[in-house]
Amino acid sequence: MKTSQDLVPLGKTDILISTVGVGAWAWGDRMMWGYGGSGYSDADIREAFDVSLANGTNWFDTAEVYGMGRSEKFLGRFLPTTSKEVLVATKFFPFPWRLSRKSLIRRLEKSLERLQLSQVDLYQIHMPLGRWSKPPHVSALADAVSAGLTRAVGVSNFNTEKTKLANETLLAKGVPLASNQVEYSLFDRRIERNGLLDYCRENEITVIAYSPLAKGMVTGKYGPDNPPPGPRKRIYPAEKLRRAQPLITLLKETGAAHGKTAAQVALNWTICKGTVPIPGAKNGKQAAENLGAMGWRLSAEEVTALDEASNAIP
Ligand SMILES: NC(=O)c1ccc[n+]([C@@H]2O[C@H](COP(=O)([O-])OP(=O)(O)OC[C@H]3O[C@@H](n4cnc5c(N)ncnc54)[C@H](OP(=O)(O)O)[C@@H]3O)[C@@H](O)[C@H]2O)c1
Repeated sequence: MKTSQDLVPLGKTDILISTVGVGAWAWGDRMMWGYGGSGYSDADIREAFDVSLANGTNWFDTAEVYGMGRSEKFLGRFLPTTSKEVLVATKFFPFPWRLSRKSLIRRLEKSLERLQLSQVDLYQIHMPLGRWSKPPHVSALADAVSAGLTRAVGVSNFNTEKTKLANETLLAKGVPLASNQVEYSLFDRRIERNGLLDYCRENEITVIAYSPLAKGMVTGKYGPDNPPPGPRKRIYPAEKLRRAQPLITLLKETGAAHGKTAAQVALNWTICKGTVPIPGAKNGKQAAENLGAMGWRLSAEEVTALDEASNAIP
């Protein structure tokens, strides 16, 4: 399908998504993202939504478990207030007591209630169910399409083997697997090395890059002497942030050459690798900055230099 520079097809579907989506995990999440604490209120979230649409994205990624349903509810309140066409991706969480095919459909119906929609654009399985090789949920995704509850279906955190199985299971039912949402950033390049990125590219499955800013670490605002708050301090210990300093410097220098910021360069790098990033934005300022990753591209030499600098991170 022919597309503009800032729109790409979602997998083999005819749905066109902007090359940067907006992740809504932080919308209502207290534990990781400090929702409700000082400096992060409902007004910030509303602004993040409005500014995101004003700056060229056409889709948001949420999940039933984000903020225990609050993230979907925020979107449900905001969507009727815009005249723009907005695409919504959400996710089913495979708790071990949700084993039947029907459980996925029931959870999707609950998500639709919170979102105040009759159909989402992408419904994803949040993660595989343990080591089970053929769980019922993948087949249930096809049921969700047949029931008209979602336009497209995807998975998340599936490795190459499980992605292949899901793709084959769905293709047998005449439904393409549109996407796999996995962690991908200059801090985490596992999918380049384990074959998943190649498999998805060869099979026209969109790789949706989550935590593309390494939860804020590649923006340059955190460092060994200025660690992130909350649980992120454990994920990104000082030594890791110290080793990342040459990368942060390169991100800033590369950005300066394009009139862009470190965050915008880091997101553009994920786009150059053929993925679609969904940076989280807690306010309008972050949303505007992150969406400035669209509409331009790093050179091949700049991508290689960033690859090399990222190799120093353990
Ligand atoms: N499928 C899954 O298992 C899974 C897992 C994780 C995430 N996700 C999805 O991916 C989305 C994004 O991932 P993420 O939220 O983990 O991490 P991320 O996008 O890498 O980082 C987002 C955080 O970085 C900070 N930030 C964002 N833009 C910034 C900017 N321009 N300048 C400075 N700081 C900025 C904000 O936190 P502070 O302001 O507090 O620093 C923000 O909450 C989520 O919202 C969710 O939709 C999916």
